[in-house]
Amino acid sequence: MSILPIVTYNDPVLREKTKPVEDLNEEIQDFVEDMFETMYNSDGVGLAAPQVGVSKRIFVIDSDGMLEEEDEKPGPIAFINPVIVEKKGKMIPLDEGCLSIPEVTDKVIRPEVVVVKFLDENFEERVEEFSGWTARVIQHEYDHLEGILFIDYLSAFRKRMHKADLEEIDTGKRETRYPIKPRG
Ligand code: NI
Repeated sequence: MSILPIVTYNDPVLREKTKPVEDLNEEIQDFVEDMFETMYNSDGVGLAAPQVGVSKRIFVIDSDGMLEEEDEKPGPIAFINPVIVEKKGKMIPLDEGCLSIPEVTDKVIRPEVVVVKFLDENFEERVEEFSGWTARVIQHEYDHLEGILFIDYLSAFRKRMHKADLEEIDTGKRETRYPIKPRG
C-alpha cells in the first residue's frame, strides 16, 4: 500500500470527465487500497480517483467519524462505476471542504438522501440508500468524477472571499499535513 500525492484544485485532471472502470482486476483493488490509505492519512472522509491524478470512475468514503453515536455507520466503502439513481429529501446546506482545496470550506446546498448503484471493493454490485453526512460525502465525491468541484456552486461573492486562499493553493504555497502535488 502507498500514500499517493493529492493534486490541487487547478490541476486539469480534476476537470476531466472520468472513464468507467472496465477491467475489474487486482490492479484496481490495489489502487482502491492506496486510495483508502491516502484518504485516512489526510484525515479525509472521501477521496476520488482524479484527486490522485487517475481519471477513472472510482471514489472511496468513510463518513463514520462525522456521524452521531445513534446513527447507522456505513464504514469504509469503495464506489466503482457509481450511478446516482435517485436524489430525494429536503435540500439542505452543509459545510463542505476538499482535500484538493486545503483549508477552504463553504456551504453547499444538496439533497439529503441519495440512492446509489455501484460496485464495491469486492466488485459486488450494490444498490443502497444513504442519507445525512454520508449522502453529502457521496455527492461531493461523485461530482469529482464529473469534473465538478464544490467551489463551482458558490456565488461570485463567496468565490471572491476565497480568492487569496485559492491563489495560495494554486501557486503551491499552501502547507498541508499530507503530500500534495501542486499543478505544473
Ligand atoms: Ni473533494
